[in-house]
Amino acid sequence: MYKSDVLIIGTGIAGLTTAIHLAQKSPHLSITLVSKTQKEECNTRYAQGGIAAVWDLKEDDLNKHIADTLDAGDDLCDEKIVRIVIEEGPKRVQEMIDWGTRFDKDENQHYDLAKEGGHSEHRILHYRDLTGAEIERALLEKISTFQNVKILEHYYAIDILTQHHLGYNVTRVMSDIECYGCYLLNLQNLQVETHLAKITVLATGGSGQIYKATTNPIIATGDGVAMMYRAKGHVENMEFVQFHPTSLYNPNGENPCFLISEAVRGFGAILKTKKGEEFMHKYDSRLSLAPRDIVARAIDSEMKVSGDEFVYLDCTHLDKKEFVAHFPTISSKCISIGINPLESYIPVVPAQHYMCGGIRVDEFGKTSIKNLFACGECTSSGLHGANRLASNSLLEGAVFGYRVAQVINDSISNIQLNSSLPEWDAQGTKDPKEMVLITQSIKELKDIMSYYVGIVRSNVRLKRALDRLHLLYIETESLYHSTTLSPQLCELRNLITNGYLVARSAELRRESRGLHYTTDYPVKHSFQQDTLL
Ligand code: FAD
Ligand code: SIN
Repeated sequence: MYKSDVLIIGTGIAGLTTAIHLAQKSPHLSITLVSKTQKEECNTRYAQGGIAAVWDLKEDDLNKHIADTLDAGDDLCDEKIVRIVIEEGPKRVQEMIDWGTRFDKDENQHYDLAKEGGHSEHRILHYRDLTGAEIERALLEKISTFQNVKILEHYYAIDILTQHHLGYNVTRVMSDIECYGCYLLNLQNLQVETHLAKITVLATGGSGQIYKATTNPIIATGDGVAMMYRAKGHVENMEFVQFHPTSLYNPNGENPCFLISEAVRGFGAILKTKKGEEFMHKYDSRLSLAPRDIVARAIDSEMKVSGDEFVYLDCTHLDKKEFVAHFPTISSKCISIGINPLESYIPVVPAQHYMCGGIRVDEFGKTSIKNLFACGECTSSGLHGANRLASNSLLEGAVFGYRVAQVINDSISNIQLNSSLPEWDAQGTKDPKEMVLITQSIKELKDIMSYYVGIVRSNVRLKRALDRLHLLYIETESLYHSTTLSPQLCELRNLITNGYLVARSAELRRESRGLHYTTDYPVKHSFQQDTLL
């Protein structure tokens, strides 16, 4: 058995920010950070556009950022949380700068603030089109300076430990479920280790890999949300899946899909049909810079009507030198597949990008399970409501990482480790005969989610998805209980749970709002919707 004061699952912006603040405030605490692959491999690393924060108080103000966030969220944001994140955001960004993060500046040495869809002002701090990689680099460098932090790479969190593992019957309506740590699969020797902790934090990121086309890296399999749901904790808003309007069209099905940042449209690029005609005026007065749900649905509708497999993004009128300076990664990716973005149009399609729902948390990142906190993309904090405003996600990870660290610091002295947990029992399990069955099931799941639970939904499609998912669930549970563990099998199980949660939440929401659009209930309602329990 391994013991830490605090066990943090995830080394993206949310997990690292929590760990840095905690290590700084409480050097006596032992902190263990866990990453399922290399520590730098996470959604954070791929963020392009930047981090939204009110920086230039002459041009912008906090209330405008708050109003834009509430507007994008389509009346489902928690206004208190929106205020907290936007008011505290600039302080968290300043800390990142103090810890060594670079953001681009203009010739007057002022931060070069970009604009993205749904923002009324220029307020996105960025580092070229590599903002996430720069933030991740600086945070990993900072965390390496603390003696009391250990990072476990290639360790896969399977399940959180609760009274269930002590032999008690745990149900979803219980209000006193407690967390004692996690079972971790050591991927070097495939042994399951018991990691006890006074406090556990889930910062496991998104679940984009439930779809065929996603901008999320392959680690994004919704493990934290699935662990929480299995532990009978509260999860919500899973129907609100954000599709980014502009991923690079790739007929060979690249996974993940390469993102063409919204900042490119903020820089002046224009969406056009395959015939070269502008179309956004038919959908929103903000044209190509309307919020993402509107732009993604508009593209989906244009593609359905025309039968085309993509639309175009026209950058040919933009300043060539400036474009390459701002978007070096996007430029070279396009050139690598034979498209010079300044001479020909870029073919783009919508792709899954972000999960707005997740583990329900309060303003301090507390979950419904005692001694278990969560932050970042795996949560539903109330910031995003029915649709996330561009570049608000990195901000949420930083603000909630800080808040979680403060509460842990104030409360941990009253918590004891529970050492009576049993070790993992692998008796009666055998090595799987055919790993290919797992690969095949993952493909099936992605097909189900992409065909039936995509941008436009309907009752018939959702029922079909849930029926098919049920079959996959039964098969996979049987495999899970009879075979030795592999990360592929654990991920399949978690992907199915996430798929179920998205489809079932979508079925329960009998209206169209934000990112959830269904042809059976095409308008927004004010009546109370049924929610998952
Ligand atoms: P992540 O950064 O995804 O970290 C998750 C961590 O959890 C990883 O370390 C992973 O190894 C670990 N983990 C997961 N499951 C397990 C397990 N079972 N066991 C052990 N470890 C586990 N947002 C913005 O605000 N601005 C942007 O410009 C922007 N651009 C984006 C571009 C792309 C291509 C993508 C994919 C996303 C973008 N986003 C952007 C969204 C944003 O990057 C993410 O929402 C955010 O980085 C999530 O941070 P996180 O710390 O919550 O999770
Ligand atoms: C982008 O650069 O378009 C992504 C920004 C985000 O997801 O917030």
